[in-house]
Amino acid sequence: MCSSPRILVTGACGQIGSELTLVLREKYGSENVVATDRRTATSPRLRDTGPFELVDVTRRETIQAVVTRYKIDTIYHLAAILSATGEQNPQLAWDVNINGLYNVLEVARQEEVARLFYPSSIAVFGPETPRDNTPQETILRPRTMYGITKVAGELLCAYYARRLGLDVRGIRFPGIISSETLPGGGTTDYAVEIFYAAVTHRHYTCFLRPDTVLPMMYMPDCIKATLDLMAADPSRLKHRTDFNVTAFSVSPAELAAEIQKHIPDFVCKYEPDYRQAIADSWPHTIDDSAAREEWGWQPEYDLPAMVVDMLEKVRAKLSCELVC
Ligand code: SER
Repeated sequence: MCSSPRILVTGACGQIGSELTLVLREKYGSENVVATDRRTATSPRLRDTGPFELVDVTRRETIQAVVTRYKIDTIYHLAAILSATGEQNPQLAWDVNINGLYNVLEVARQEEVARLFYPSSIAVFGPETPRDNTPQETILRPRTMYGITKVAGELLCAYYARRLGLDVRGIRFPGIISSETLPGGGTTDYAVEIFYAAVTHRHYTCFLRPDTVLPMMYMPDCIKATLDLMAADPSRLKHRTDFNVTAFSVSPAELAAEIQKHIPDFVCKYEPDYRQAIADSWPHTIDDSAAREEWGWQPEYDLPAMVVDMLEKVRAKLSCELVC
């Protein structure tokens, strides 16, 4: 692609979409990045910095219309139902994550879209997978509907790449921690909620046990990973739709202790609920050496650096909400 890509982002109002869209607009020009979601954008930053369209990925014609109208050649397909919501409503998870992805892939095939980004997840792993330093190639037998849709999604994307020449690239994201938009319906959401609770009430009740270690990543690294993989030389990629990536692993108790270094009177309590079983089926730590070798993956934020930046951003956001 010599000229600027013409980009469509699905799920642009979500946790990753709301930040990735703005970075893409800065990089490729606002007019070249069409943000879409099934709900109207409420964030002025998203709504007012470039084109925004309503797209429900379960209705193929809504994707088709935008791809044709804006001559889209690259799609970041972020619309998805996460693990906890998926267990509450498995039919919805299947519909959005499988039928929605199939619709996006079919429009991409018919309209000759060149490149597609697909976010997979640590949820592809299951209780039979080695939980420490989880390998790139390993057992994929998830127990959640979300995980099942993500494994099927990886395979479906690989099929379109191999059979039909669509340049699909995908990452198995760990839990993503961010300050701009709250995640919704995920098992790793506690790692975002805890910051808002610590800053506002000095108290948080966590829905996972204190010793539940999960792989995590701060949003700037999530965006960096996405952009780096999408820009990678295709001749170096042995994998395509399923790269393991991680930045650090942490338990709720360790995250609370790191926050307490900055807010000494912060108290965290634990009342595990149905999400504990989901977390217990996921890895502790991830081997991401394939991503490091094939496209130079290297995270920038470790746990202490992430906590410092998150507290600064959450404090700024909350004080702005009070004043603005
Ligand atoms: N953050 C996601 C979730 O908890 C995992 O990919 O569902």
